[in-house]
Amino acid sequence: MKNYTTLILVGIILVLAAVLTGTLVFMQNQPAPQRGVAPIVEIKPMEPDSSLWGQNFPNEYASFLKTKNNTIDTTYGGSSKYSQLERDPRQKILFAGMPFSKDYNDDRGHEWALIDVNETKRLNLDKENPKRTPGTCYSCKSSTNPKLWNELGMAEYDKTFFGDMTAKVTTTIGCSNCHEAGTMRLIVTNPALQEALEAQGKDWNTFSRQEMRTIVCANCHVEYYFAGPGKYLTFPWSEGTHIDQIWQYYETTLFDGKKFADWEYPNTKTPMLKVQHPEYEFFSAGSTHYNAGVSCADCHMPYVREGAAKYSMHDIHSPLMNIELACGQCHSDTEKVKTRVTLIQDQVYNTKIATEDAIVDAVNAIKAAAANPSSDAALLDQARALHRKSQYLWDFVSAENSMGFHNPEYALEILAESTDLARQAQMLAAQAANDPSLLKTGTYYLPAPSGN
Ligand code: HEC
Ligand code: HEC
Ligand code: HEC
Ligand code: HEC
Repeated sequence: MKNYTTLILVGIILVLAAVLTGTLVFMQNQPAPQRGVAPIVEIKPMEPDSSLWGQNFPNEYASFLKTKNNTIDTTYGGSSKYSQLERDPRQKILFAGMPFSKDYNDDRGHEWALIDVNETKRLNLDKENPKRTPGTCYSCKSSTNPKLWNELGMAEYDKTFFGDMTAKVTTTIGCSNCHEAGTMRLIVTNPALQEALEAQGKDWNTFSRQEMRTIVCANCHVEYYFAGPGKYLTFPWSEGTHIDQIWQYYETTLFDGKKFADWEYPNTKTPMLKVQHPEYEFFSAGSTHYNAGVSCADCHMPYVREGAAKYSMHDIHSPLMNIELACGQCHSDTEKVKTRVTLIQDQVYNTKIATEDAIVDAVNAIKAAAANPSSDAALLDQARALHRKSQYLWDFVSAENSMGFHNPEYALEILAESTDLARQAQMLAAQAANDPSLLKTGTYYLPAPSGN
């Protein structure tokens, strides 16, 4: 009798355990519960139209639209599209012979991206000219891109001429550049970033949420170039993202036996490189904030509260415009922090101008030596190699948009090396021409040498 009772009890326990396990498994397999209201509109994968996403997320959308109305400038940044060339005319000399010497404006809000690229005077739409601007230039300007890359493939996209892409690229930067429809998780959308991470053996699907809050910006805020005749969008990251590794990449990657060059500097005949906007590489190269685990979104997309709602501010701009919100979350004394930013940026700016003066001196010396038929060709070539590197280093700091703030020590270190190389280039040119007068400094202030 006692045995039967035990058996029945064991049976009941087993059945209950099975039911419980079943229930747990069932619950595990249910989709994650939606917080708040369920989506009103179903968003198709890679939907370019941000206003549709906006119906589900009105706060994020409304704040995103504000990027169109920002006009306030800070000392070194801000949201008007002021001319870099008017502020610093040395850059007209440094970019002589290429489109940036004609039109080079400061960046502004994401809502402007498509309008600004369509309007820049750097475009060459001349159908007769084989050097027409490639479609690749649209790569970081539009929320239509993820869909187009998916449909055409990036190689096809890049080799289509800019003018032939204009009708297809219809929306400015938007939700689909950073989010996956449906889940709203942050994703890598630019195939060039995907490939650059893979080349380093990295898989962003394994990144933490905090890492994604930085890597989504690297879809666009990076150094890149257009490789080969198909103008294939490429990040020069296969050696790594430190400037020494990027430089190593450009020096060892050959096209038809030649190093990549964006243009040849007039009269010095130096094969030059133009740096884009390496915010990601610059910030992530061991900056204090990066090492402390701070992300781009922490400073540029702080949380805002409106009534009961708390959301990430999508009105991305200079954090100096809302320093309490952007920095105050971690630094209690925002006045002090603001003073630090001013000191850092002034120091980097002044150092940068000194570097520019050194590069202009090198340019003038190399021009003179190149015009002299008795100059030593081998020494002159060495001078050119230093000119190329010196300008690349300088531009890495100059084209980066924070005037050094994202990584102050790194900025000063790079500029110091650049100045040193420029002075060495100048000395080699003087030696090549056997002309000590080419050692003159401060030539930026002299009348422009003839032959321009
Ligand atoms: C610790 C805070 C902080 C972090 C983290 C940070 N930034 Fe910044 N960022 C700043 C400050 C401060 C400036 C300078 C703004 C100015 O001069 O008006 C700036 C400037 C910029 C600018 C130029 C803004 C303008 O007004 O022209 C861009 C673009 C930018 N950051 C992108 C990024 C990206 C991309 C990342 C991540 C890779 C990043 N930032 C990480 C604080 C930060
Ligand atoms: C430049 C990249 C970028 C774009 C473009 C962008 N977002 Fe975001 N979004 C972010 C980041 C970064 C976060 C913070 C995510 C996190 O912390 O996990 C975020 C968070 C969100 C969230 C989560 C809640 C919150 O506010 O933190 C929603 C919802 C959202 N975005 C909606 C949108 C919508 C709608 C659009 C288009 C109008 C959009 N986003 C465009 C980068 C972007
Ligand atoms: C799809 C490409 C793309 C992505 C992704 C992107 N940006 Fe931008 N960003 C741009 C472009 C292009 C501009 C310049 C637009 C112009 O000047 O017309 C810009 C401008 C800016 C500015 C200057 C705004 C101003 O008012 O001066 C800041 C700051 C900025 N981005 C930060 C970020 C941060 C932080 C992230 C990641 C959360 C991010 N961006 C992601 C392409 C992108
Ligand atoms: C998410 C937190 C966080 C945010 C947001 C943040 N910081 Fe920081 N900041 C830190 C940490 C952590 C350190 C390192 C502190 C230390 O080592 O004592 C730091 C250090 C600094 C330093 C000293 C760096 C040095 O190398 O001397 C300055 C200056 C600074 N922050 C400015 C800013 C500014 C300006 C902003 C807003 C644009 C900002 N921070 C936003 C966390 C943050």
